[in-house]
Amino acid sequence: MIIDLRSDTVTKPTSQMKEAMWAAEVGDDVLGDDSTVNALQERTARLFGMEDALFCPSGTMTNQLAIRAHTEPGSDVICDKHSHIYLYEGGGIMLNSLSSVKLLDGDRGRITAQQVYDSISPENDIHSTVTRLVSLENTMNKGGGSYYDINEIKKIRQVCWDKKIPLHLDGARLFNALVETGETPLQYGQLFDSISICLSKGLGCPVGSLLLGSKRTITKARRFRKVMGGGWRQAGFLAAAGIYALDNHVGRLKEDHMRAKVIGNIFHEKSEVEEIFPVDTNIVIIRLNDSITEVEYVQKLAEKDIRAVTFGKNLVRFVTHLDFTDDHLTEMRKKLAN
Ligand SMILES: Cc1ncc(COP(=O)(O)O)c(C=O)c1O
Repeated sequence: MIIDLRSDTVTKPTSQMKEAMWAAEVGDDVLGDDSTVNALQERTARLFGMEDALFCPSGTMTNQLAIRAHTEPGSDVICDKHSHIYLYEGGGIMLNSLSSVKLLDGDRGRITAQQVYDSISPENDIHSTVTRLVSLENTMNKGGGSYYDINEIKKIRQVCWDKKIPLHLDGARLFNALVETGETPLQYGQLFDSISICLSKGLGCPVGSLLLGSKRTITKARRFRKVMGGGWRQAGFLAAAGIYALDNHVGRLKEDHMRAKVIGNIFHEKSEVEEIFPVDTNIVIIRLNDSITEVEYVQKLAEKDIRAVTFGKNLVRFVTHLDFTDDHLTEMRKKLAN
């Protein structure tokens, strides 16, 4: 049995999800004719209490479209130094938006209102970039699935209102945070100017992310999506998977979190492991001691058919997901025992 914990993106659609996909009504989405895409967009916009939504192939695209829509050349984007938008989107802030970053040192990726306030570029200073966007990530991938205290987000929101700077959320794994805190999408919709959510991570879809925002932001994003070649046609087959996932795969994320906690406990007993990041949601990050490198450790795990990824110096990441069951967990424990 292969235990694949490289990411929560490795899941395959369930048979019920496939049935929903094949049954989808579709049309040409570039012409606005795909009723299933429209239904998914309307549904998520309503869920978050936002005006509009745009269905896209990836979370990278939804983040980058938001950044493009909110900034103009010569801007800066304030974010944590470990943000996905900065580290893992191929320099898109620079390439797509001709903009720079102000990188903050957050607590496992969570930045504070004071840090944001202190890093906003001075007004009318011709020497600096112009701060045009603040971007948060929740849950935070590099922080090991850490999530924000909503009260801090409210304070950041206030700073952004005061300074008239839009606030974006990379919510690729927002539902993982929501099932832990009991907060609602509506609460998040009130706090952000744009939100990116992914369907192809914890929710188990083969493809798809949504950008949520005002009519104006989404109209701009739709245009940039087309420019990037991201206008798609009968995408309703994929949107149907998203609708199915919203109906069936949100509540169960708690199970992924429970299994992640068990994995964290298993590694407590391992001699090569120096530290385990707090396991808040579905991501487990372990820090190795000097007895082995992260590359060697991932290789050693692979030899036992356990797949994980290196995640920086001495760090290895595991992510639980829909296709990782209690049977996999039991098997993993056995494999690691010897
Ligand atoms: C926090 C976060 N944001 C955005 C993305 C980008 O999503 P995609 O792989 O669909 O481009 C990821 C992907 O892992 C992610 O972890």
